[in-house]
Amino acid sequence: MRPTILAIESSCDETSAAVISNGKVLNNIVASQNEHHKYGGVVPELASRAHQRQIVDVVEEAMHLANIVNENLDAIAFTRGPGLMGSLLVGVSFAKGMAVSLDIPLIEVNHMQAHILAHFIPTGQDTVKPSFPFLCLTVSGGHTQLVVVRDYLEMDIIGQTQDDAVGEAFDKAAKIMDLPYPGGPLIDRYAAEGNPNKFKFPDTDMPALDFSFSGIKTAFLYFIRDNKEKDPGFIENNLKDICASLQYKLVGMLMNRLEKASVQTGIKQIAIAGGVSANTGLRMELARRGKMLGWQTFIPEFQYCTDNAAMIAMAAHFKYLKGDFAGMDCAPLPNLNFDSEG
Ligand code: KG4
Ligand code: ZN
Repeated sequence: MRPTILAIESSCDETSAAVISNGKVLNNIVASQNEHHKYGGVVPELASRAHQRQIVDVVEEAMHLANIVNENLDAIAFTRGPGLMGSLLVGVSFAKGMAVSLDIPLIEVNHMQAHILAHFIPTGQDTVKPSFPFLCLTVSGGHTQLVVVRDYLEMDIIGQTQDDAVGEAFDKAAKIMDLPYPGGPLIDRYAAEGNPNKFKFPDTDMPALDFSFSGIKTAFLYFIRDNKEKDPGFIENNLKDICASLQYKLVGMLMNRLEKASVQTGIKQIAIAGGVSANTGLRMELARRGKMLGWQTFIPEFQYCTDNAAMIAMAAHFKYLKGDFAGMDCAPLPNLNFDSEG
């Protein structure tokens, strides 16, 4: 079954490896890093050290579970960027070492494109896949983008955040409330039982299709500080309502832009991707507006929302079919964008 590709993801704080064969993802091993929890965010130096410790075991497990040996591989794929330099370097160096020793090609993958291509990972069920062109709201810890997807490897960013990413807004708000990193999933969990209309937070009006989340982050900081002055137990007493109100606002900011992008482009095939697409509020609101506006909506399987190598493998599969290989001089790019591909 060809091509058989080993893919490695190490852009941030998950060390992950997956094997794809003839377009079918055989497994997806993800090793998370707990060392960042107490710091309220990813510590780059700790992340790269953890990748170094974990990468051999993670790759061996992926190969073992796929029941293949090195000689079965046709290519090695890796995340070139965007991401943390030290973290990317571990994956890139490991991939190069394997490719040289096995004398097989290398494939570089853009992490943000891979998040979108997670929609094409076969899931076993006969789910409908998006058809081109479709619109994707890609929301992660470092990025918030509106993307027109014209083909598997042909995408244009038509709007993006001018400051913080929405995942960062979730994580920083959680940190302000002394919740551990990553705060997004925790806020999501508390929000499920809270009142979304209890507290009001400001929107930031941006031109065109861009986003801004630094204003709401600052407003949230002062909101907590001022209320804690009046009631030291404010957070504990209102945690669920605070989380529900904040999430409601953040999801609204995302969805309003997505709706505007759909009107502007005339595209009604709408997808979400990236870590924040795991958010229950966002998934529900996408379904609600989709029904109202006649959209066909696409949500990635839960396990393929946050960082994983299966999505890197999927992107690598499409690149392999195009003969799009990387040279041995291919260096990681922490700010890799869609145009710096190739
Ligand atoms: O895509 P991802 O795993 O890594 C990056 O490429 O950045 O996204 C991580 C981000 C973090 O900010 C995390 O808090 C957020 O995704 N996240 C969530 C949820 N699950 C993960 N945010 C809100 N609700 C969730 N359920
Ligand atoms: Zn990601």
